Amino acid sequence: MADIAVVGPGAIGSVAALAVQQTGRHAVTLCARRDPGAIRVVDDVTGEVTDLTMPVLTSPAKVDGPADWVLLAVKAHQTDGAAGYLGALCTPRTTVVALQNGVEHVARVAPHANDARVLPAIVWISAEPTGPGEVTVRNNISSLLQVPAGPEGEEFAKLLDGAPAVEVELVSDFTTAAWRKLTTNAIAGIMAATGRRAAVYQREDVKELALGLARETLAVARAEGAQLPEEEAEALVGIFERMDPDIGSSILFDRLAGRELEWDARNGVVRRLGRRHGIATPVSDVLVPVLAAASDG
Ligand SMILES: NC(=O)c1ccc[n+]([C@@H]2O[C@H](COP(=O)([O-])OP(=O)(O)OC[C@H]3O[C@@H](n4cnc5c(N)ncnc54)[C@H](OP(=O)(O)O)[C@@H]3O)[C@@H](O)[C@H]2O)c1
Repeated sequence: MADIAVVGPGAIGSVAALAVQQTGRHAVTLCARRDPGAIRVVDDVTGEVTDLTMPVLTSPAKVDGPADWVLLAVKAHQTDGAAGYLGALCTPRTTVVALQNGVEHVARVAPHANDARVLPAIVWISAEPTGPGEVTVRNNISSLLQVPAGPEGEEFAKLLDGAPAVEVELVSDFTTAAWRKLTTNAIAGIMAATGRRAAVYQREDVKELALGLARETLAVARAEGAQLPEEEAEALVGIFERMDPDIGSSILFDRLAGRELEWDARNGVVRRLGRRHGIATPVSDVLVPVLAAASDG
């Protein structure tokens, strides 16, 4: 049995907490910044509804000791705000699994984590808040967490072994896997900019824009060591084109709800690292300020 804290009981945090609950093997606590009330997770394929039954804390001051594992599921830009929880929960024997988008998990989380190990995770889960205390998981695609192959990744896979809510996959080339996901995140920035779900990629002009964005993101990815050829752009944009038109993205849900956007970790990073490598990023040069301005508003 491990002591596990899930920090950030939103869409992904609720699915992570559900997975821990399903194992029946661990003590799990939700760490929130306000009382979320009762939380239920709905499977949109089977219609199954599961109530989360673990205790909820609403302040780092209520943490009564370090955790073995912290599953961090706040948005990237909320990480500094979660520093109080990380400080109270982490020791050098803790592993923090950063369930976040982007490619900068370790740099973002480690400064707050008291020398805990930080395990970056690529989140392939589509989960959406669909009402007060309700998170719906789009289970027509598999819910997958990819982590770097190695001892920490293996321990994490063992931790959640047997939980139907998520599958943990160990990947040997994490840089490539993380940049492939980041490229899809960058493309999804167009949803937030237009305020539209995946149907927007059916437009020829938007598809062209998405292709330009994907190509420049992949160029930056290769400069960062990812093995992603330019032809990957067509394949990744094709995924969006063929997607259920009603599928959204967490950055779109934030835009529609008038919340701050995770623009820097998902799109800003392409422009920032592109500049560092001397790679032109013309689409990001326009899209990033648009997203940043939408986020401010
Ligand atoms: N949703 C998806 O389908 C999806 C898919 C792949 C990857 N991701 C990535 O997963 C990460 C989490 O996204 P999400 O969609 O789960 O976000 P979310 O639904 O907005 O959840 C974030 C949660 O963190 C809480 N929070 C914020 N600051 C906190 C703090 N200081 N202490 C404790 N809790 C705090 C928020 O509380 P409040 O309710 O008070 O704001 C919210 O419950 C992001 O990096 C996202 O890009 C999401």
